[in-house]
Amino acid sequence: MVEIRGAFPQTRLRRNRGQDWSRRLVAENRLSADDLIWPVFLREDDEPETEIASMPGQRRLTVSEAVDAVGRAAELGIPAACLFPKVPASRKTLDCAEAFDPENLICRGLRAIKGAVPQVGLVGDVALDPYNPLGHDGLLEGERILNDETVEVLCRQALVQAEAGCDVIAPSDMMDGRIAAIRRALDAAGHEDTRICSYAAKYASAFYGPFRDAIGSSGALKGDKKTYQMDPANSDEALHEVALDLAEGADMVMVKPGMPYLDIIRRVKERFGVPTLAYQVSGEYAMIKAAALNGWLDGERAMLESLTAFKRAGSDAILTYFALEAAERLRAG
Ligand code: PBG
Repeated sequence: MVEIRGAFPQTRLRRNRGQDWSRRLVAENRLSADDLIWPVFLREDDEPETEIASMPGQRRLTVSEAVDAVGRAAELGIPAACLFPKVPASRKTLDCAEAFDPENLICRGLRAIKGAVPQVGLVGDVALDPYNPLGHDGLLEGERILNDETVEVLCRQALVQAEAGCDVIAPSDMMDGRIAAIRRALDAAGHEDTRICSYAAKYASAFYGPFRDAIGSSGALKGDKKTYQMDPANSDEALHEVALDLAEGADMVMVKPGMPYLDIIRRVKERFGVPTLAYQVSGEYAMIKAAALNGWLDGERAMLESLTAFKRAGSDAILTYFALEAAERLRAG
């Protein structure tokens, strides 16, 4: 609670809100391009471009288009990009072997982008859902998602990405024990400087729907992800997840989704004081875009307000599909 320091009429909080200069002077948080990570969808060259209907304004890029687009992000001052592949159905297998093929789309994308725009940090998502015909993040035995067997495959996936130039390995799979295993595998292969950003508190959320359209896994997904992703009702459990991942060697932690979970970001940041990222996920982007396209919201203002809210809640950085648009807007002033 704020202690009351004075009372009306001596105290009038509206005074400081009176002019633009004054509001700028007392602003507690400020969004900058430095806070943004841009999630990029990749597609194979021979795959025709089709629109991502549920994510207006987002496209799946070929590797060479992504090189140019990440170059543009760099010009705008965006520090990092995160890559997600749309894997052709013919390459999806139950053993998810495509995930650890050093010639897969992600590795080709990492090499090309790192070669052309080395100053941008590259984040590689580690999970099996783009490669699994059943759309799950892990290996299956019947309907059960296998934990320890999945972790072994995730280590191989992390290794090929690190070899290809990935700066930050970002496991989004929610298997137990994967951070320690991936850290050990990276270190053993001489990648002790490759960071790990753990999707530590990742909830089983309806807000991932448009993303699954974008990577082509939505039709495939059998059942739901509740046996590995967190229950939206829980908060203490998020702190437990974060504590474990930090003990296992995570360099940064992430909370996901973002807007409905700002309380979790605040608790994590206050409790641990470590780099804390938020993921403003596809469904959050879709809601704002859809309302803006209908003329129901001022899309630009809603975008900036939502991103500023992440800063206020304690996020150090935000993964957002708005990254380019927001950086352009921030540059224009
Ligand atoms: C997969 C993964 C997902 C997202 C990022 N990595 C989807 C899921 O867990 O089903 C969602 C991102 C978004 O919705 O923008 N491991």
